[in-house]
Amino acid sequence: MTQPQPAVPPRLRLIEIVSAGWISAAVSALADLGVADHLDRPRTAAELADLTDAEPEALSRFLQAACAAGVLSDQGDGRFALTDVGRVLRSDNPESMREMCRLTGMEEFARTWAHSAHTARTGRPAFEAAYGRSAWEYMADPAHTDFSSAFHRAMAESAAGQTVNARYTFPEGAHVVDVGGGRGAMLARLLTEHPHLTGTVFDLPNAVRGADKLLADAGVSDRASVTAGSFFDGVPGGGDVYLLSRVIGNWNDEESVRILSRVRAAMSPESRLVIVGHMPTGEDRTHYVRALDLYMFVLLQARLRTPDQYSALFERAGLALSRADLRPDAESLIEAKPV
Ligand SMILES: C[S@@+](CC[C@H](N)C(=O)[O-])C[C@H]1O[C@@H](n2cnc3c(N)ncnc32)[C@H](O)[C@@H]1O
Repeated sequence: MTQPQPAVPPRLRLIEIVSAGWISAAVSALADLGVADHLDRPRTAAELADLTDAEPEALSRFLQAACAAGVLSDQGDGRFALTDVGRVLRSDNPESMREMCRLTGMEEFARTWAHSAHTARTGRPAFEAAYGRSAWEYMADPAHTDFSSAFHRAMAESAAGQTVNARYTFPEGAHVVDVGGGRGAMLARLLTEHPHLTGTVFDLPNAVRGADKLLADAGVSDRASVTAGSFFDGVPGGGDVYLLSRVIGNWNDEESVRILSRVRAAMSPESRLVIVGHMPTGEDRTHYVRALDLYMFVLLQARLRTPDQYSALFERAGLALSRADLRPDAESLIEAKPV
């Protein structure tokens, strides 16, 4: 019979909560080094250090930290192996989150979180307190291409193409406009899966840089186009389906209504708008959605929304909710039509 575990004393529990960021920083560092890519079999710290150009004793401390988090397992003979969680760090995993883990460890985010009390006091984004401008303006600056490239790599890696492919039926021969579509990873997945579709990826100039190559590499260039611009000025016309994947969650209500109104202006009466992203469902098993909602607020003064909250925004933009497909712990999908 297993013994009940003694409760963790409150002081210990609290310090465990606030020090969790140190462990997550260690996992980000391992993602940056690409350690998981070399763990096709268990290896020692010395072997891994040799393969990733790291210092063996230092690397072993990071490997131990990752064991504490359940990302690696210590084999007891000096070798480390990937757990199921750790396998998601491999670049060749179709569900890889390596780029996302590298991104979350970047200095820009650490500095933003260090200013989060400013957000609590003022309601203003901590990113602005730290860098004097919005995250989008910062990324558009050619001096920060490292950060913007890392951001768009992480977005491309985690683009919700599968979510949309599996759960949305596109009209035959539809033209899809992916608004805020970054480098076009989602559009590439949609056009690959549905040879009858054509599409346009639309985003800021710094974001669509590289989209032509991504679409060409996916073999869909003949059915895809790329347009640079801001959705506050207008979005391309001619779409049967407008996609906003992980976009409206980056903006406050006023800004969101402006974006939705621009999309609405480009839509025909038959066009549909599809919004994809995490939405609170009340049935989520992890606290990730809550964390993401806070992150959106601290970074961008934005929020995640329920279908009811989307409905209220749609009403102000001349749209109406026509379908909601909510998934706990995963990306949800809702559809709106013009009214
Ligand atoms: C969180 S990313 C999501 C990217 C992509 N849709 C996805 O799901 O992977 C938000 C996107 O909005 C774009 N964006 C931000 N401001 C914009 C603007 N004013 N006009 C067009 N796109 C913008 C960003 O460049 C970025 O690609």
